[in-house]
Amino acid sequence: MLETITATRYVVPLKEGGSLPAVVEGSDDGTWVVKFRGAGQGLKVLVAEVVVGELARALGLRVPALKLVELPEPIAKYEADEEVQDLLTASLGLNLGVDLLPGAFAYDGSQPPPADEAATILWLDAFTANIDRTPHNPNLVRWHGNTWCIDHGAALYFHYSWPSKGSNPERFAAQRFECTSHIMWGVATEAAATHERLSAQVDAQLLERILALVPDEWLEATDAMPTPADVRGAYVENLLARLASPQAWSPAHAEGAR
Ligand SMILES: Nc1ncnc2c1ncn2[C@@H]1O[C@H](COP(=O)(O)OP(=O)(O)O)[C@@H](O)[C@H]1O
Ligand SMILES: [Mg+2]
Repeated sequence: MLETITATRYVVPLKEGGSLPAVVEGSDDGTWVVKFRGAGQGLKVLVAEVVVGELARALGLRVPALKLVELPEPIAKYEADEEVQDLLTASLGLNLGVDLLPGAFAYDGSQPPPADEAATILWLDAFTANIDRTPHNPNLVRWHGNTWCIDHGAALYFHYSWPSKGSNPERFAAQRFECTSHIMWGVATEAAATHERLSAQVDAQLLERILALVPDEWLEATDAMPTPADVRGAYVENLLARLASPQAWSPAHAEGAR
């Protein structure tokens, strides 16, 4: 599992984030951007953040460190802002901490990453069906001259159909990805070589190692998947099925790819 720390102080909400993330101080003396379990779409967003964020890191991309942040009751109880208090009260337990990159710039495209890094970002998002990395909503920041990937909560959206329809790896495998809407379309090159390089790095062992970082309490059971191990297995199965059908989604197969 990811390392767990305790929140020691709620500092300030991050105004830009739609999911009401906030800056929080931790028991490790670190400063963390916390994504709260009680926000918006709940726990599945946090699972996607960890799975795709750690996959990005494994593929060599820059991603802020991730930790689990235990939110204790007194912090929620003594928060003055009512909206924040409601969010914190709904978020007691384990939340996601993303290491704050102090002074990071919003990514505006004026200093894009090198073409191979751009191609890796595009491939990662196509593979995990992350639709949230567009010119309108880059979810990238520039820090110390490099591009950092943040906010993977929109990826893996197949998990939202699990309670009603169950896991369907073939469906996710065949799901197309609109590469031309991605912020790295036009920066990325070598789509075929990138696919070859990255797909060779993803296997069951890597995915199982990554799923093991997710805490049990975030893995929502369904009738067909009653245990956390079942849910972890379903993520691995869906991603492996997709890996095996690159013609549906890979930038290497996108029309106009360079
Ligand atoms: N680790 C971080 N370091 C610095 N700034 C961050 C970090 N995480 C998020 N931000 C800032 O907060 C904004 C919202 O965060 P994001 O993770 O995209 O939340 P949301 O899920 O609400 O879109 C980002 O666009 C960025 O400006
Ligand atoms: Mg965002």
